[in-house]
Amino acid sequence: MSWVKEQSPEDKIIQEEIIKEGNLPRHIAVIMDGNGRWAIERGLTRTEGHQEGIESVRDIVKASSQIGIKYLTLYAFSIENWKRPITEVGVLMKLLEHYLRQELNELHENNVKLQSIGKSSSLPKVVQKLLHEANETTKDNTGLTLTLALSYSGRWDIVRAVQMIALDVRRGKVSPEDINEDLFSSYLQTTGMPYPDFLIRTSGEMRLSNFLLWEMAYGEMYITDKYWPEFRRNDLYDALINFMNRERRFGKTSAQVASEKDTKQKDTYLQRVVNAIKGK
Ligand code: IPE
Ligand code: IPE
Ligand code: MG
Repeated sequence: MSWVKEQSPEDKIIQEEIIKEGNLPRHIAVIMDGNGRWAIERGLTRTEGHQEGIESVRDIVKASSQIGIKYLTLYAFSIENWKRPITEVGVLMKLLEHYLRQELNELHENNVKLQSIGKSSSLPKVVQKLLHEANETTKDNTGLTLTLALSYSGRWDIVRAVQMIALDVRRGKVSPEDINEDLFSSYLQTTGMPYPDFLIRTSGEMRLSNFLLWEMAYGEMYITDKYWPEFRRNDLYDALINFMNRERRFGKTSAQVASEKDTKQKDTYLQRVVNAIKGK
């Protein structure tokens, strides 16, 4: 099913307004948090929260692809999440397996490149196989690159990179004087992607929880109180408009940045247009 065909006219207009404004992030990273709390507050099971969370994944992936975002990286399971009760881990792995089986064709049809980062050897064999298959099938796609962070942690990836650099030094392939930021980041699993310029975290927690520690050095953060299962495309649009409104200084002064680029003000107008279309 092509995603363009199932889009509502109102949604199309909102997206066109946002695209017209430009200045979108190239790489959005998301900490999808709050499935459990969403469910418990509604008298449901945590499993049902995770199931509903997958509906949000579907919607955010589609909307990001339609809007022309190049990279979307979703934190789906951290290394620390292995410490959860075994039944919950089992449910999450089953849901992941189901998602990969069900979505691969549609993602491929819509030109999405699907890949993963993290310690994949810890994942169930069947999930490893499905990830490999998805990777192979979609590797030449040129649309959205969707990266699932699975059994991932930022510190794990940094330590792993250090080990590999040390090995290459021992083999004589790298000399210690050559080690700089670019070389280091080329050993991370996120190599080949631009650093995330925008990180969204749902359910109000103000922390990184071991996600993309190196890569997020200058990424903008957006934290919403909404739980992940209720975070859908309209919330993404609000987040994007918020991003457009920010001044990214990278250590410089405000005056320096302003002289390089005139970005002030335009996005309050856009927020009003989008709210009007949404009927707020
Ligand atoms: C996010 O929701 C999903 C995963 C971490 C796998 P949680 O399961 O963390 O939900 P809360 O934070 O307990 O509400
Ligand atoms: C972060 O959520 C990890 C994922 C979303 C996969 P957690 O629920 O595990 O984070 P903490 O424990 O609240 O920091
Ligand atoms: Mg959580």
